[in-house]
Amino acid sequence: MIYKLTYESNASAPFDQLGVEQILSAARTRNKAMDITGCLVYHNGCFVQILEGDRSHVTKVFKRIAQDTRHSNVRLVCEEVDDKRSFSDWNMAYFDPTMQGIDTSDLQNFERNLLMLSDFSDKLSATVNLFWFNVRKAILNLKIV
Ligand SMILES: Cc1cc2nc3c(=O)[nH]c(=O)nc-3n(C[C@H](O)[C@H](O)[C@H](O)COP(=O)(O)O)c2cc1C
Repeated sequence: MIYKLTYESNASAPFDQLGVEQILSAARTRNKAMDITGCLVYHNGCFVQILEGDRSHVTKVFKRIAQDTRHSNVRLVCEEVDDKRSFSDWNMAYFDPTMQGIDTSDLQNFERNLLMLSDFSDKLSATVNLFWFNVRKAILNLKIV
């Protein structure tokens, strides 16, 4: 079984591409070694990430992430156990809407492509749905009250 979790957080300082690349290169090496897959989005000072893999590995990495001072206010949004991965091809996919100068329809394309490449049954995963919900929220700057 595959354990999945998604969280959101606030960057401690605005990140440039280099800062995010530093996080990603270390993350990908470690995730690969621990067979963790997922996706990280950074936009407007907010991170949204989904992690999936063996429960003990994901929990261990998430604990480390939550203590990382490069971000704060880490909120676990959803966790679940599923029968398969949603991001099986990515040790950590990365998506920054600003870098690509995209609008909402591009985001929908990105999401569709990513899900198509992974697995359509993802539509049923609450964690994956909430991950994308929070990505949209960050991009559209929606305030959910
Ligand atoms: C937003 C964000 C996402 C991160 N994602 C991961 C990740 O997916 N995997 C990972 O190993 N580290 C990730 N890190 C880095 C960890 O917080 C930590 O720096 C890294 O695991 C090295 O830990 P260590 O210095 O205790 O060895 C992330 C950090 C931030 C700020």
